[in-house]
Parts: sequence; C-alpha cells; structure tokens
Amino acid sequence: MKWHTRLTELLQIEYPIIQGGLAYLAYSDLAAAVSNAGGFGQITAMSLPDANALRHEIRRTRKLTDKPFGINFAIGMHRGDIEERLRIALEEKVSAVSLTGGNPAPFMPLLQSANLPTLVLVSSRTQAQKAEQLGASAVIVVGHEGGGHLGRDEVGTMVLVPQVVDAVRIPVVASGGISDGRGWMASHALGAEGIAMGTRFIATQECIFASPSYKNALVKASSSDTVVIKRSIGFPARVLRSPLIDKIMELERETNDREALMPYISGEANKRWIYDGIQEEGFGWAGQAVGLIQDIPKVSELIQRMVREAEDLRNKWT
Ligand SMILES: Cc1cc2nc3c(=O)[nH]c(=O)nc-3n(C[C@H](O)[C@H](O)[C@H](O)COP(=O)(O)O)c2cc1C
Repeated sequence: MKWHTRLTELLQIEYPIIQGGLAYLAYSDLAAAVSNAGGFGQITAMSLPDANALRHEIRRTRKLTDKPFGINFAIGMHRGDIEERLRIALEEKVSAVSLTGGNPAPFMPLLQSANLPTLVLVSSRTQAQKAEQLGASAVIVVGHEGGGHLGRDEVGTMVLVPQVVDAVRIPVVASGGISDGRGWMASHALGAEGIAMGTRFIATQECIFASPSYKNALVKASSSDTVVIKRSIGFPARVLRSPLIDKIMELERETNDREALMPYISGEANKRWIYDGIQEEGFGWAGQAVGLIQDIPKVSELIQRMVREAEDLRNKWT
C-alpha cells in the first residue's frame, strides 16, 4: 500500500518499477528476478528466435516466480509473426504487454478483446494522446537520456514527462535516465505513477546474457560516453561509444544508406559485444544513466536500495 499508484494497481505489483524491454537480454531470469523483488519484469518477445521460444520463456518465468510479469513487443521489428506471439502471450495469461517502436493501432483490438493491460511506449505528447485514444492502459514516456531506441524529437525525460502527464488521463510511467531512488522520486514529483529502467537492469547479476565486458563497461562509463546513432536512417538509438561507434557515425555523415550501415548496426553486431564480449566487433545500447551506475548488484539488492533511497527522500519532504 505504501507505494500504491494506479500503476501498482494495474499490474498488481508492490513497487511501481518496471524493467523495460531489453533486446537479446531480458528473458526469464531477469524478468523473474525483477518481479520477485516487487517490480514488474518483462520478457522481450521480438528478439527471441520464434514464437515457441516465447512460450518456453513464459513458462520458465512462471517456474521462477509466482508474481506478475509482462511481455515487451518491439512492433517495428516486423517479422510477420507479431500477432502469433501476442496470441501466445494471451494464451499463457501474462499480466500485461508493452508495445514499442511502431503504430500500436493494429494490435489494440486483440489486446482489448482479451482485456489485457497494455502499456505503450511514447516519446511525445501527441503519441501519448494517440495511445490513450487507442485504449492503452498506461504510457511509458521515454526521454532522450534513455538507452536503445529513442524518439526523434530529442526531448529529455524531465521536460517530457510533465507535458505528457498534463495531456492524458491514463497513468504515465517515466523512463530514460532513471537508475536510483532519486530518479524514481523525481519522476513522481513530475506526475508519473511509476518508472521503467533499462540500462540499470543490465548491470545486475540476473541479466545473465550480458557479457562481463559489457556490464563492466557500463559501470566504468560516464554519461558523456554515450552517443546517438542511426539518426541518418530515422531510428535514433543511444549506444555506448567506442572506436567502432565513431566509425559508424563517420559513415552516417557520408551516407543515409541503410544497407551500407547494416553490417555495423545489425542484431548480429549487437550480439558480438553484448553476448561474446568483443567490443571491437560490435556495440551495446546504453543510456546516459551509465554515469550513475557503479556496481553490478543482485536485482533484489538494487530494488531494496532504491526503496531505502526513496524512503529517505520521502521522510525529508514530510
Ligand atoms: C540494451 C537495450 C535494449 C533495449 N531493447 C528494447 C526493446 O527491445 N524494447 C523496448 O521497448 N525497449 C528497449 N530498450 C529501451 C528500454 O526498455 C528503456 O525504455 C530504456 O532503456 C530507458 O532508458 P534507460 O536506459 O535510461 O533506463 C532497450 C534499451 C537498452 C539499453
């Protein structure tokens, strides 16, 4: 009850803390750890090889936790079987889904007919209003500080969240640059009813697929070590800087040809570093929050630390 918001009610969780979708990284172990710690873990559906793998991950998560968890769908990554994967999420009775990276309209009727809480990621006030009109249960607002794919408007979380809060009636979740109890409480001060974190959850023990090299680089990095790539092809995304990233940026200054960039920005290149630990041959998404990350704790330790920080702040205010 202490941390009660409309989001905790919607998702039936103790703390209004969501683990954002993390392509190739967020599967059963991480999702279950976040849910067991009182937050809301999510499996990232579209980076799994196929629909059966999603069913397997859902069932595995259920063995690891009896708490609610959800499935994240990057609907821009169209592989033709999004609907099949959504149906699996429904059949397996997950607690919620989140949709990102595309127009949610084609998928909303199916989700609404099943009465499944649906969170839509947005990066502008207009997108948030559209999501509300389409029947989203809540919006996750992603500011420009965030890791991975971003909106094209380049507006930071601090400025974006209150505008969205003023523009919609459904609960707003703040995301982008949040990694501790201070960011969490600041988000509530802006009118959000919860937070979603991506980068912070990679640097945890239970993010088992992230290579030590990637995790250690997140701990070592300062906020100025991230840059935005893929602007030239209209899909801006924040990444940890490296010599290879500098080369990509140079290439982007010369061309906006997707094919020319593809060998450097493909999922395979992503996995070269985040799975295999070979930074010279790949890349890893990360947000500016890296400047605030100093350790690789267990998820439960991270969330309990955030709760203590948040309680301290609340006590200072009252
Ligand atoms: C490595 C990485 C992969 C991501 N993959 C996804 C994804 O598949 N789906 C999604 O909705 N968001 C994805 N995101 C975005 C996060 O869910 C979240 O919105 C973002 O990380 C928030 O900013 P933060 O990194 O500052 O916490 C990804 C972020 C990172 C860092």
